[in-house]
Amino acid sequence: MEKSLKNQVAIVTGGSSGIGKGVAIYLGKAGAKVAVNYHSDEEGANDTVNQIKEAGGEAFAIQADVADEASVEHMFDKVFETYENLDILVSNAGLQKDAAFENMELKDWNLVLNTILTGAFLCSQKAVKYFMKRGVVDDVSKAAGKIVFMSSVHQEIPWAGHINYATAKGGLTEFMRTLSQEIAHKKIRVNSVAPGAIATPINEDVWKDDEKRKELLKLIPYGRIGEPEDIAETVLWLVSDKSDYVNGTTIFVDGGMSLYPGFIGNG
Ligand code: NAI
Ligand code: BGC
Repeated sequence: MEKSLKNQVAIVTGGSSGIGKGVAIYLGKAGAKVAVNYHSDEEGANDTVNQIKEAGGEAFAIQADVADEASVEHMFDKVFETYENLDILVSNAGLQKDAAFENMELKDWNLVLNTILTGAFLCSQKAVKYFMKRGVVDDVSKAAGKIVFMSSVHQEIPWAGHINYATAKGGLTEFMRTLSQEIAHKKIRVNSVAPGAIATPINEDVWKDDEKRKELLKLIPYGRIGEPEDIAETVLWLVSDKSDYVNGTTIFVDGGMSLYPGFIGNG
């Protein structure tokens, strides 16, 4: 793989599993030094770090709850202490706590919004403050910093039974767009990736079950469930100079899920 991220430092939140793991490994293989954030799965994070090191890259694992200010501060301190720099933030941590609206408990509403929205706020604010202070470093990247938020097709597609999650991803969209509008002049690029159904722990109850998997596939015109690598390829491009003119947008990587496939032969 071309070392397009040579001399760059990246933080990937939620890097112990699924999409975050795939993204961290891709960035590491592309030459970035990667801080692999995890919440509680230290073993998973160490595995991500080892895969990067085995491929000749540099990485370390760092625990933090992205929804907790002191914890995020500690993570950034550790990254600056270790790598003395930051160029890329992939704000990927997220979770589902599903329930019918009438049964949803406040704690699960708050947990999902805090993780997805407050997590994005805390991590990106820390990154932005540093990018603003440092500015562009010649021969490293055309931008002073790059931020990618892991959104979802559910930033657009309403999702009954998941109102906390869909609300958080919808909110994340306007957060990303407003942040980009506010700081693009500082040469900081902010974008989102909106995955469709990707086979990870977050939805394994669906893709590991034959019946549910069949139903899910009906929602994907391209006819397959995605893999973390599908998302990692896009993130890699979005944090590289190849996408230098891409600002404040969402790239859907969803096998066509957002094309209203329910209308095929219907309507
Ligand atoms: P996953 O469950 O493997 O990954 C989520 C990661 O976020 C886990 O490593 C988890 O420990 C971490 N996390 C949760 N709360 C955290 C906190 N407070 N602090 C730090 N880390 C925390 O599932 P997946 O699919 O890899 O999810 C990654 C992101 O992709 C999430 O934001 C999810 O909403 C998004 N996504 C996933 C899709 C899918 O089909 N798998 C589709 C669209 C979006
Ligand atoms: C959810 C997954 C789901 C996918 C497609 C993601 O945001 O986390 O559980 O499979 O959207 O609906």
